[in-house]
Amino acid sequence: MVPISALDRAAGGLGAQLTAALRDAVADGRLAPGARLPSTRELAAGLRVSRGVVVDAYEQLIAEGRLVARRGAGTVVAPRASPPVRAPEPPPVAYRPVDGPLRPGVPDLSMFPRAAWRRAYETALAGAPHSGLDYGPPAGPVRLREELAGYLNRVRAARAEPARVVVTAGVAQALSLLAAALRARGVREVAVEDPGSVGVRGHLEGHGLRLTGVPVDADGLVPAALAATGAGAVVLTPAHQFPTGVVLAPGRRAELIAWARRTGALIVEDDYDAEFRYDRDPVGCLQGLAPDVVAHTGSVSKALAPGLRIGWLVVPPARSGSVLAAKEAADLGGPVLEQLAFAELIANGGYDRHLRAARREHRRRRDALLDALATHLPQARVTGIAAGLHLVVELPPGTDDHRVAQDAARAGIAPIALRTLRLSASGPPGLVLGYARDDPSTLRAAVLTLAEVLRLD
Ligand SMILES: Cc1ncc(COP(=O)(O)O)c(C=O)c1O
Repeated sequence: MVPISALDRAAGGLGAQLTAALRDAVADGRLAPGARLPSTRELAAGLRVSRGVVVDAYEQLIAEGRLVARRGAGTVVAPRASPPVRAPEPPPVAYRPVDGPLRPGVPDLSMFPRAAWRRAYETALAGAPHSGLDYGPPAGPVRLREELAGYLNRVRAARAEPARVVVTAGVAQALSLLAAALRARGVREVAVEDPGSVGVRGHLEGHGLRLTGVPVDADGLVPAALAATGAGAVVLTPAHQFPTGVVLAPGRRAELIAWARRTGALIVEDDYDAEFRYDRDPVGCLQGLAPDVVAHTGSVSKALAPGLRIGWLVVPPARSGSVLAAKEAADLGGPVLEQLAFAELIANGGYDRHLRAARREHRRRRDALLDALATHLPQARVTGIAAGLHLVVELPPGTDDHRVAQDAARAGIAPIALRTLRLSASGPPGLVLGYARDDPSTLRAAVLTLAEVLRLD
């Protein structure tokens, strides 16, 4: 028997009502797997509806796999699908750190230039032809690639041509695309800075690349140690090394380029934090010195907001085919209106204006953090240049920085331990302290909390 006695004629949509009622009955087991349904003629007569209504309902549920039409046996409820196989838990997402004061790597999101972005978005929307909403070039709209090339050449002393620019979903996707392209060429080993970004390592390892750590000293990554590896590429942060905050020295830049040209390896320049140098103009990028062997990547994550997921990659000509193929395979291109809005923001000067305001504010916050450290944590030694969104403090030898970071998180603040960022076991203990996210009074209170954590530790 079908557990449906009548349909609500006043409500109309008899076919939809019958379909929904049968679907519910199958779902909650009132119609058990294998149960035979009445013929369409019988049910139509019982419910006093036309036979077509019942035929349509049965056909809909057959198409959904809830009913099965058996030759000679009429219509029966489909056997229950076997319980879904549980997918394995995904690995932890490396870029979802604990949030709280002193969290490195994130700008103050309340400073996002909403009004300027809205204007840029509206201009982009009004100006985009209908055809601009179609699948476009996977590398991104020409308009944005032209603006980005102009911006990078002007501000970062790059040598970028629009045809070699790929718009990406952040540095994260740029690394994924490069990793895929490297693997396609047979590269299995990639060198990374030690200490360095856990997220960067994750994107490379996620594509099956084996990582070798190369030490970083006061002049940046050590090329002699790199030369001793068999790496087919190196990923580094020359403008402001993450996390130590040092700048890659001029001689090292030349050595690195010579290594790449000699071995056929690729240099991946993560232009991390390059927008924010407070004591002088930032050093021009490596790509400008050697566009044939350097792939240059950056994003708006630190300058505007990570949630925009807009970044860029400038690829050496010899690598651009494989990178474009990887981008096309990944997503056929990013969201076009956001990309056009960003192009507009660069073109109308809004991006530069925002960066200038952010630089002023970051500087003020960095000074406040330094002051608070000098007062409340005089034993902490600050390292690195005046740049970026964070600074590093070295802690007295023997301090368990990992435990300090865990205790700090419990106390509501979010520094990162240097140990978490190291591949090798050696190196002084320390903490990475972000200052861009918080106003000076929050920073002072956070340093007091940190001092308390260290005292109890
Ligand atoms: C070293 C480094 N590079 C780049 C990024 C930014 O990644 P994305 O541009 O994908 O947001 C991060 C994120 O924290 C990072 O730590």
